[in-house]
Order: sequence, then structure tokens, then C-alpha cells
Amino acid sequence: MSKKEFFSAFLKQGKNVGSVTPSSKFLVKKMVDPIQFKNVKCIVELGPGTGIITHELLRQMPADSILLAFEINKEFCDTLNQINDPRLKVISDSAEKLEDYLKQYKVEKVDYVVSSLPLFMIPDSVVDTIMEVVLKTLKADGAFIQYQYSLNAYKRFKAIFKNVDLNFTPMNLPPAFVFTCTI
Ligand SMILES: C[S@@+](CC[C@H](N)C(=O)[O-])C[C@H]1O[C@@H](n2cnc3c(N)ncnc32)[C@H](O)[C@@H]1O
Repeated sequence: MSKKEFFSAFLKQGKNVGSVTPSSKFLVKKMVDPIQFKNVKCIVELGPGTGIITHELLRQMPADSILLAFEINKEFCDTLNQINDPRLKVISDSAEKLEDYLKQYKVEKVDYVVSSLPLFMIPDSVVDTIMEVVLKTLKADGAFIQYQYSLNAYKRFKAIFKNVDLNFTPMNLPPAFVFTCTI
């Protein structure tokens, strides 16, 4: 899907899409840099959009791992479903249903959760539900990695996680903060 089509999805559903264009290659790098791919079994991606981060995750994930990608925009799901990779499971449902799908895929623990969700647009109660499941299922040496265009979520993450590392890239539209949170 082109940048033009992404922008058109933003015009139709801006509240959910949360950005006018896919992440830059600089932001994608900052999102995957904290991941130790070698022994990964399961990564969860929340809000993959058209798959700019998804492709990089799949490029580096081991052959016997799976990537569960939760996306509520049906057109984006169609684009993601064109990725011909048996490790990718596109879940056309909200991230708040994470726990149900982990059960369905018989996943007890998750190595990493990589999230592009526009948290500022999502009701607090829904974000709380998602964070509860993340905390419950994340492996002790795993991480929750999230980008945002502001520091608003910093306090929330500090209250939930043991460590929150903050990174920043000006090379994105708009510039983005990357939070790497560990338990
Ligand atoms: C800012 S875009 C990020 C797209 C892509 N990951 C990137 O970095 O370019 C956020 C994505 O989150 C999706 N989204 C928003 N709320 C969601 C939810 N509750 N569950 C799953 N996906 C959601 C939107 O449809 C959109 O594709």
C-alpha cells in the first residue's frame, strides 16, 4: 500500500490511524533495535498498519517463531494478508482482545510486544486492559516497545514497568519518542 493510500485511510479514520504516513526507516530501526531476535518464539505487534515494522520484524525473526499482528483497519489487514509468510498471523481485531488470541494460538509467554497504537486516541480503560495482559504475558527478559509523538504516556509506563528507556528520532513525520519498557 502506498503512502497516498495510507493518507487516504487517515482521512477516513484519522482517530484510529493516528498518523498521516507510515513510520520512517529511522523510526522502524529504533523500534526493532532493542530486540534480541536469536531465541524469539513469539512477538506481538499492535497496530501494524500497512506493515512497515512487520516486514522488518519478519526479516529478523527465527524460522520457528510467530508474529501475531493486531490491526482494526480492514484495508490495512488486506495489505498485511498479502505478506506471504506463514509466521505472520494477521488478527483483524482490537488489541484489547490480546488475551483471547494468545489462548487461541496457545501462547503462554510473549518475547516482545511492539506497539504503534495511537494511545492518546484510545480510551484509558482500553489501554489499561491491554497493559494488564502485556504485564501478565511478557517474558521476564522481554520488552514492550511503543512509539508515540509526545511524552504523555511516560508517566503511565513508569507506573507500570520496572524500567522505561526513552529514545527519540527527529527523522520521522512527526518526530517520535520510543519507549522500551521492561518488567
Ligand atoms: C500510527 S499507525 C501505525 C502504523 C504502522 N505500524 C507504522 O508504524 O507506520 C497506528 C495503527 O494502529 C491501528 N489501531 C488503532 N487502534 C487499534 C486497536 N485498538 N487495535 C489494533 N490496532 C489499532 C490503526 O488502524 C493504525 O493502523
